[in-house]
Amino acid sequence: MTLELHARRLVATTVRTLFAADPARFARFSREACGILFDFSRQRLDGAALDALVALAESRGLRTRIDALFSGAEVNTTERRAALHTLLRVPAGRAPAGLAAQHAEVLAVRRQCAELVRAVHEGRRTGTGGARFTDVVSIGIGGSDLGPAMATAALAPHDAGLLRTHFVSNVDGTQFADLAPALDPARTLVIICSKTFTTQETIANAGRVRAWLAGRLGEAAVPRHFAAVSVNDAAMDAFGVGRDARFAMWDWVGGRYSLWSAVGLALELAIGTANFEAMLAGAHAMDGHFRTTPFRDNLPAIAGLLAHWNRNALGCGSHAVLPYTQRLARLPAYLQQLEMESLGKRVTLAGEPVATATGPVIWGEPGSNAQHSFFQLLHQGTADVSADFLLPLAAAADPGADELVIANCLAQVQAFMAGRESPEAYRVYPGSRPLSLLAFARLDPATLGALIALYEHKVFVESVLWDINPFDQWGVEFGKSICGSLLPLGSATPPAELRDLAAWIARRR
Ligand code: F6P
Repeated sequence: MTLELHARRLVATTVRTLFAADPARFARFSREACGILFDFSRQRLDGAALDALVALAESRGLRTRIDALFSGAEVNTTERRAALHTLLRVPAGRAPAGLAAQHAEVLAVRRQCAELVRAVHEGRRTGTGGARFTDVVSIGIGGSDLGPAMATAALAPHDAGLLRTHFVSNVDGTQFADLAPALDPARTLVIICSKTFTTQETIANAGRVRAWLAGRLGEAAVPRHFAAVSVNDAAMDAFGVGRDARFAMWDWVGGRYSLWSAVGLALELAIGTANFEAMLAGAHAMDGHFRTTPFRDNLPAIAGLLAHWNRNALGCGSHAVLPYTQRLARLPAYLQQLEMESLGKRVTLAGEPVATATGPVIWGEPGSNAQHSFFQLLHQGTADVSADFLLPLAAAADPGADELVIANCLAQVQAFMAGRESPEAYRVYPGSRPLSLLAFARLDPATLGALIALYEHKVFVESVLWDINPFDQWGVEFGKSICGSLLPLGSATPPAELRDLAAWIARRR
């Protein structure tokens, strides 16, 4: 039976009925690995539908494709590259077969990061005047910003307390303009994260911060105050990044998969090397789970299969990410890039149009706040939305609030599942919203690592089911090239369709 037939078979059944018919539904449809409970008992499916999904994974050769990913095969076919982010979290002495040389390079950069962190923390690495660094400004955008920014906020309770960490990404310059008055240039370390070192927004921000710093401390201070993570040595030479402050990247690490590389340096400076390595270890544990566990017990495989089910069989065009902790406030934005840049594709690996809908729109907010804003649409609106609820059991800054957080999360999960009947139409809740709950004891580095790796692999599973390349992003390049053709505004000739609008803007500026 196809997935569509299973969906049609289940369409008239509520999840509440499924619970009533199967008292062991929680046990049957939840799994635990790497410290994460993945409860999908509130998804709109039964055992037969799950069997069909697992069979689909097998028929699409998911196991072989996972092996290809981990072994460094050229899985990014349009850019002719491997996607070896998993290698970034392999511990010393455990190099995978055939990847010893790449792994040695990874470990060398890890050592270099750890040494910088130690030197900054111990006050051996200082600014030009010999003052200890108190502030780190990490400049990047997209994958060179969202991962460290999200994780630094998530792991704030693990912060070593030695440095203030700031992230600057928006091309408009407002973030640094707002930040600069609070910074002492003599005590500021700047990290430029840009794999290419050509990204317009990052180069604009780096130039601004360089001008600010050199204007106050002199040109000679630049090599002491700037570090960079990039593959582009020539551009780092031109910028004036010192040789000892360059951290290598590799073309086999995609931007949105780069948190584990030196792109995570600002995070490592904030939380210390031991915590950063605990995060890598958590992700590595999830890699092992994904690689070896049968699909029906495999968290990323099940999450990917459910995403496919919700998108293609149930027709959910959007997916909400709802963390029940303010510390994960940036997780929806991080997952937006991870999922939408990876799965926003319309042709198969062979270049043929895909036959079905691909990646959904990802969005979200911390659940506690969202309950009082957009949850109404999820309760009673007409849109078909699936959702992930993320629940740490002890994350509240006020421990007394954990109980309230948990109760709120479970109440919403119950309401979305059960719905409510009423003689008054405006009080009717349909229920049966397809949702999963990911619960974990604490939001510590290892759990965060495992959680992010879970989502990375979930995305990979979806890409295999759709037969698309999750590792390129050609659409983004298109916008960049049009932007280039519009500059300088006023003298460049815009495309015909923009001419009148550009003229209006020129008059009003
Ligand atoms: O524009 C999209 C993108 O290429 C992302 O994929 C990437 O994470 C980001 O830009 C930043 O790129 P870079 O690290 O080269 O500055």
